[in-house]
Amino acid sequence: MLMKSQKRSEAFMSKNKIELVSSGIEGLDGILGGGFPLGWVIVVAGGPGSGKTTLSTEFVIQGCLKGEPGILVTLNEPRHHVLTTMGVFGWDLEFLEREELLTILDYSATNVLYSIHKQGMKDGGPSLNFMIDQLQDKIDSTGAIRLMIDPLNAFSFLFKDKFSMRRELHKLFGMLAGRKTVSLTTLELGSSEMPFTVEEFLAYGVVRLYHKKIGRDRERSIEVVKMRGLKQSKSSFPFEISSTGCRVFESTETFDF
Ligand SMILES: Nc1ncnc2c1ncn2[C@@H]1O[C@H](COP(=O)(O)OP(=O)(O)OP(=O)(O)O)[C@@H](O)[C@H]1O
Ligand SMILES: [Mg+2]
Repeated sequence: MLMKSQKRSEAFMSKNKIELVSSGIEGLDGILGGGFPLGWVIVVAGGPGSGKTTLSTEFVIQGCLKGEPGILVTLNEPRHHVLTTMGVFGWDLEFLEREELLTILDYSATNVLYSIHKQGMKDGGPSLNFMIDQLQDKIDSTGAIRLMIDPLNAFSFLFKDKFSMRRELHKLFGMLAGRKTVSLTTLELGSSEMPFTVEEFLAYGVVRLYHKKIGRDRERSIEVVKMRGLKQSKSSFPFEISSTGCRVFESTETFDF
């Protein structure tokens, strides 16, 4: 009897293991609990200029530099602007495109979002089906592992009600998770103290970036709010953007896994 229950307990132990993908950003893996889990959709939320685009783009680039294909989906900034603003960090995105390691999908023009809307209406109501299908094809044809979608807020005006928005984000996140990607999706927040949003509840992980005014200056910090399946850090950590990109300054906090 005892043997049987012991065997059952052993058999019951989950064989599912979380596979971690190193972010490649100095200091970030430490505060995440090792890296971003493969298959997770992460929301990177913060105010204007808090570093959402830079951090998420660097994550994709660091993968490319290791030979992992990546995709940048830009919904606000046009392609040429992304090339310029990321170029200041010394990152030549066109080189990575030529090496077939990076794909930039530019959905920034209003008419592109309008096409997404129009196509959705043909399908019976506003939806992201058109974009999800295109993105899925790109992930399959390039074998992309790391993705960035910047910012999720661009979709919000396509939907009149919160239910449709939640349903469509759920569909998008489901496709990304099913394709075994690590997707950083950015979210614009009006204030650092803003209550948590639908996107953050739906995501598997949430990182918030802060750029708080302290006296006459602003200080950057980063917080891992949630990372399902991992024991992440409890604090906020100083975060820096310099001419070479992003850096997190970890403390000596320890983790028990
Ligand atoms: N070489 C550099 N050294 C220090 N800071 C820099 C450098 N280049 C750019 N920055 C800063 O990095 C920040 C870039 O922010 P980024 O565009 O990633 O923010 P964001 O959160 O995506 O903003 P938005 O909501 O406007 O899209 C800007 O505040 C910019 O001033
Ligand atoms: Mg941005």
